[in-house]
Amino acid sequence: MYHAHRKCRACNGTDLVPVLDLGTQPLANDFRRPGEECAGMAPLAVLLCRRCSLAQLSVVVNPQVMYANYSYVTSKSETMKEHFEVVLDEFAQETWRSKELLEIGSNDGTFLLKAAERFKVLGFEPASNLSALAIERGVRTINRLFDESNAAELAATGYKADVIVARHVFCHVDYWQGFIRALELVSHKDTLVFIEVPYVKDMFKNASADQCYHEHLSYMSVLAMVHLLAGTKFKLHKIIPYEIHGGAIGIMLRHVEHEGMADVSVDQYTVVESVESLEAGWRCLAQKMQRNCGDLMKLVSACRGKVICGFGASAKATVFINACRFTKQDIAFVCDSTRQKQGCLVPGTDIGVVPETRLAWCKTEISEKEWITPDYAIIFAWNFASEIMSKNKDFKGRWIIPCPEVKIL
Ligand code: TMP
Ligand code: ZN
Repeated sequence: MYHAHRKCRACNGTDLVPVLDLGTQPLANDFRRPGEECAGMAPLAVLLCRRCSLAQLSVVVNPQVMYANYSYVTSKSETMKEHFEVVLDEFAQETWRSKELLEIGSNDGTFLLKAAERFKVLGFEPASNLSALAIERGVRTINRLFDESNAAELAATGYKADVIVARHVFCHVDYWQGFIRALELVSHKDTLVFIEVPYVKDMFKNASADQCYHEHLSYMSVLAMVHLLAGTKFKLHKIIPYEIHGGAIGIMLRHVEHEGMADVSVDQYTVVESVESLEAGWRCLAQKMQRNCGDLMKLVSACRGKVICGFGASAKATVFINACRFTKQDIAFVCDSTRQKQGCLVPGTDIGVVPETRLAWCKTEISEKEWITPDYAIIFAWNFASEIMSKNKDFKGRWIIPCPEVKIL
């Protein structure tokens, strides 16, 4: 199901030191109905490369196992819609004559539907359930993995993209050198490549070790990207910070031959990212995660007799809930708007996922005879906390957020 990862995927270095260990965990998006067999468990630990500062998981789960039953769909939240507008405006500023936009990991076509207002769009999406959804919505999608051979096949038709977008997919890729070569094949000298990834310093700031799960093979620093690009057709062009997903950066790449000037902010990023400071940051994050799990467990056991639910069955919820070893005795259920997740269990647990409406009225194991309102709701999708709370103003109980520190609001 998985193999050990021993060599840095950015710089080929072998001095990889352990910096965070979350034990053995289920696959974070492996939502199954009660009684269905799960994909299995794998170690969840982070190693840091002492040469280029790239943090990466100690194992690589076989992608066929991880993505066979894949329930993640692009968020339809207002927060995400606004983010897409901001990103597309950024492209417009950079590339005013662009036509062809290619998205890698285009999911159910949500971003491309928006981008289609300004570009001719095409997506690569390996999950067949998601690419079928996108095609149904009228989004041109190739139901394949974006790798060298599929990129070469597309390039052979004469296709070159003016803008290539990879949102939250780059850190899911194991073989980066092949991915960069695939980008080279479908780009031209003036193509803009936009890679959006969670930023490691934001993870430190938010104490969000719950972003570490098996799909996220790497935790990006700009310095690691510099190492990866050495000897390729690409150079760093611009880094843009975003608040989406709890803190991300948009890394813009250009061909070395492209004549435009790179943005100076690129240098500032590499200055604050010494290997020593990132190693210290990871060790501090590990301690904070341990503290937050301890605090959440204490809080939950102090609330015996009350009903506690979760809000947002995100992958982050799976990590937190498993790190705390919660069962449905602790967290009665988790509300989530995603239809595919409802009726399933949070991976690795007996905790059910239910529609958001259950926040108002519920029956639980604890109180199965009467309809009640949960006393507390832990917002595991804390990156959407303000949207969730304002959507659910009528909630009579109290909200809890699990990080940067556990807080009852
Ligand atoms: P994500 O951070 O990985 O996108 O996951 C967020 C989860 O939270 C996703 O499963 C959808 C869920 N969610 C709701 O159920 N209601 C909401 O209002 C929002 C914003 C998210
Ligand atoms: Zn490295």
